[in-house]
Amino acid sequence: MPRILMCPPDFFGIEYEINPWMNVQVAVDHTLAVEQWTALHTLLRDAGAEIALQPAVEGLPDLVFTANAALIYKQTAVLARFKHQQRQGETPHDRAWLEAHGFQAVDPPGGDEAARAFEGAGDALFCGDTLFAGYRKRSDAAGAQEIGALLGVRVLPLELVSDHFYHLDTCFCPLSPEEAIYYPGAFDDYGRRVLQASVGKLIEVEEDEARAFACNAVVVGRRVFTNTGCPGLHDRLAGEGYQPTATPLGEFVKAGGSAKCLTLRLDGEEAAGWRDSGS
Ligand code: ARG
Repeated sequence: MPRILMCPPDFFGIEYEINPWMNVQVAVDHTLAVEQWTALHTLLRDAGAEIALQPAVEGLPDLVFTANAALIYKQTAVLARFKHQQRQGETPHDRAWLEAHGFQAVDPPGGDEAARAFEGAGDALFCGDTLFAGYRKRSDAAGAQEIGALLGVRVLPLELVSDHFYHLDTCFCPLSPEEAIYYPGAFDDYGRRVLQASVGKLIEVEEDEARAFACNAVVVGRRVFTNTGCPGLHDRLAGEGYQPTATPLGEFVKAGGSAKCLTLRLDGEEAAGWRDSGS
């Protein structure tokens, strides 16, 4: 059974600005945020996922984005080392939850070095046996290689060149070991070539849909859940045999996040090669 970690938006809000989507003058409608989060939770549960809940913590408005808590590899959880001080208080809570639920939580290599920032599944996504790692905005390229060495997996680093697409999961979403969604404008030529050479089939997202967080999708089996505003991607997905569903997540877009950011797949993403290896 797919297992997904979520954290309710009890204390979600825009209390600081650490990405270009965030504006402390644009308040979150709390009631609407709760409605949107609950609708996503219900959709994922109805799709057959077991949803685990991490308690919200006052003063940590971005804890709701559980994707950033850690990178999950089998029973190991490589915790985040957040770049921005505003989110660093999340890690003790993530560590405690993951350890209490059977994971071996490890810090990313590099000691306390701020230069070795790493933002979990927001910047590290398996497609097949390869770990694709976004760097420059929030996570460090050398750090990603160290994590690959720790886990014994191949890492392909991808430089993120656009401030609006500051986490890899805002512009790249593996669907299966051979297929992924991506927004080419978030990568440089080299990154685009790496993706084209190493993913069997790439589904391109247009800029306006990428800005609606089309790539920030949650995949459960053949079902794909995204924010509203990406009908072109949904048509492409349906044509490839997927079942896309749109659900409004505008209150979370105000913080620079959407469907995928609000989830952490605990049993391995659908696209992770190791998931079916039986180990
Ligand atoms: N406000 C959060 C931040 O800037 C949003 C995180 C979105 N998470 C993600 N996996 N893309 O860190």
